[in-house]
Amino acid sequence: MVYVYATHGYLLANFLDPETNTRGDEYGGSLENRTRLVREVIEETKDAVGDRCAVAVRFAADERADVDGQPILGERREMFALLADLPDLWDINIQDYSLEMGASRFVKEGALEPYMRWVRSVTTKPVVTVGRYTSPDAMVRMLRSGVTDLIGAARPSIADPYLPMKIAEGRLEDIRECIGCNVCYSGDSLSVPIRCTQNPTMGEEWRQGWHPERIAPRATDSLVLIVGAGPAGLEAARALGRRGYRVALAEAGKVLGGRVTREATLPGMREYIRVRDYRVQQLQKLPNVEVYLDSRLTPEDVLEFGADHVVIATGARWRRDVFGPKRFYPIADPTTPVLTPDDIMEGTLPTGPTVVFDSDGYYMGGVIAERLRQAGLSVTLVTPADRVSPWAEETGEGWRVPGHLIGLGVELLTAHGLVWFDGQKVTLACEHSGREKTLAATGLVVVGQRAPVDGLYTGLQALAGEGPLPFTLARIGDCDAPAIIAAATYAGHRYAQDLDRPVDLDQPLRHEKIDVGAELALAWQRAAE
Ligand SMILES: Cc1cc2nc3c(=O)[nH]c(=O)nc-3n(C[C@H](O)[C@H](O)[C@H](O)COP(=O)(O)O)c2cc1C
Ligand code: SF4
Repeated sequence: MVYVYATHGYLLANFLDPETNTRGDEYGGSLENRTRLVREVIEETKDAVGDRCAVAVRFAADERADVDGQPILGERREMFALLADLPDLWDINIQDYSLEMGASRFVKEGALEPYMRWVRSVTTKPVVTVGRYTSPDAMVRMLRSGVTDLIGAARPSIADPYLPMKIAEGRLEDIRECIGCNVCYSGDSLSVPIRCTQNPTMGEEWRQGWHPERIAPRATDSLVLIVGAGPAGLEAARALGRRGYRVALAEAGKVLGGRVTREATLPGMREYIRVRDYRVQQLQKLPNVEVYLDSRLTPEDVLEFGADHVVIATGARWRRDVFGPKRFYPIADPTTPVLTPDDIMEGTLPTGPTVVFDSDGYYMGGVIAERLRQAGLSVTLVTPADRVSPWAEETGEGWRVPGHLIGLGVELLTAHGLVWFDGQKVTLACEHSGREKTLAATGLVVVGQRAPVDGLYTGLQALAGEGPLPFTLARIGDCDAPAIIAAATYAGHRYAQDLDRPVDLDQPLRHEKIDVGAELALAWQRAAE
């Protein structure tokens, strides 16, 4: 299929838009003139490809973004009617990319539906649209109601490329549902390889040979003990279980999921629980995986267990201090209570006006501020960055975070570092001038760095110092290096893939060497000929 892109502010979209198209020739002015270039490109593309493939056009159903779910159509319908039967397929999206590409914190499944209702009545050609569809029921409803002919899925098929096949086979419990975190999109924003929180094989199909559904059978009869059932531990257990290993998964708490179970209770974060639920459902199908809840292990317990391989995935906890340019420094007397996101998630909330100091810069600062506003507290979100939640801009959440928080009544203060908290006020310093200011607050929540919970790992290492351990020892996920959830599922999967597999440390990944100099010389030579 060949696409003609007449949306997303690209060149063709600019021709359609009277605000950007100020031409005085036959390509500007009237609606017909502004539509001319798109018409010609569609016609010429169709001529060029003949009957070898279909030509699709991506086109926005609305004219202007305003309130979610309330389309401003303007002249879109008329414009569409001029082109209606030209392409083989219409791919209909909307103007507001923060809604189309919406993160689940702000946008739920099927958000484009209200924009789509008129489209099919104006064309005889099939129509497709998107909307982070992972639920077969929602897809069927869209098709039955006649809003669209086909369901498009970008993120849902990154999270699970086999989504259509699983629906066709009735294996709904096997669907690895996208959680709408937009970590995949951050790869796009940063021009780095795309990662997916739910699908750790994403981007590793070629260079590591990982398949989203298939995994090599076990190489030995080993017993693997995984300690910690957060995203890394759960994914390691699932993938090792699929390989056929005997696996014991020990979790200190009463529930599985670790950080995703806790974070999913925060405002807007409900869909993150899919990271746990998908894996727990898969574990239930694996008789070779035993899960032990309420099982806090000591190094001696681990030794006694008799596993061949031990992998520690005990996660991380938020720190109460703050990282300065070179080191962590305290920001309150030890007797002054300073809270962290872990406290909030575990139910300990401040009782008065609160400063949330966010030097993490991703979603947690904003989410905690929202949680405290829900509890009726007066909240100021302070960040040393020039923008609130700067890293969330890479995922597209940043497009909505400041407006969302302001709408909730959260005060925002950027470019200020945290100097001290005495229980009554927070002293801050401007990042640019160093000038200090104080905010009256009886609560302080620091959203800064996280420290690995690695006591068990270091305890086992200490035992190893007394004599060789009777098992291999590794640590994965946040317990190794606190990072985003996608890094944890990746680490768990990688551990499972690499177990009993010889890894060439000099060349762990498949790669191709291209001599750019030689390629260029060849290209010049060809051009000269
Ligand atoms: C990683 C990633 C890259 C994307 N790149 C493009 C792009 O280059 N052009 C485009 O029109 N849409 C792009 N999109 C947007 C998708 O086409 C789609 O409109 C959007 O993801 C909403 O669909 P979904 O809810 O099924 O994910 C991208 C989406 C993702 C997740
Ligand atoms: S990274 Fe997140 S949003 Fe993107 S496909 Fe995976 S789960 Fe969905």
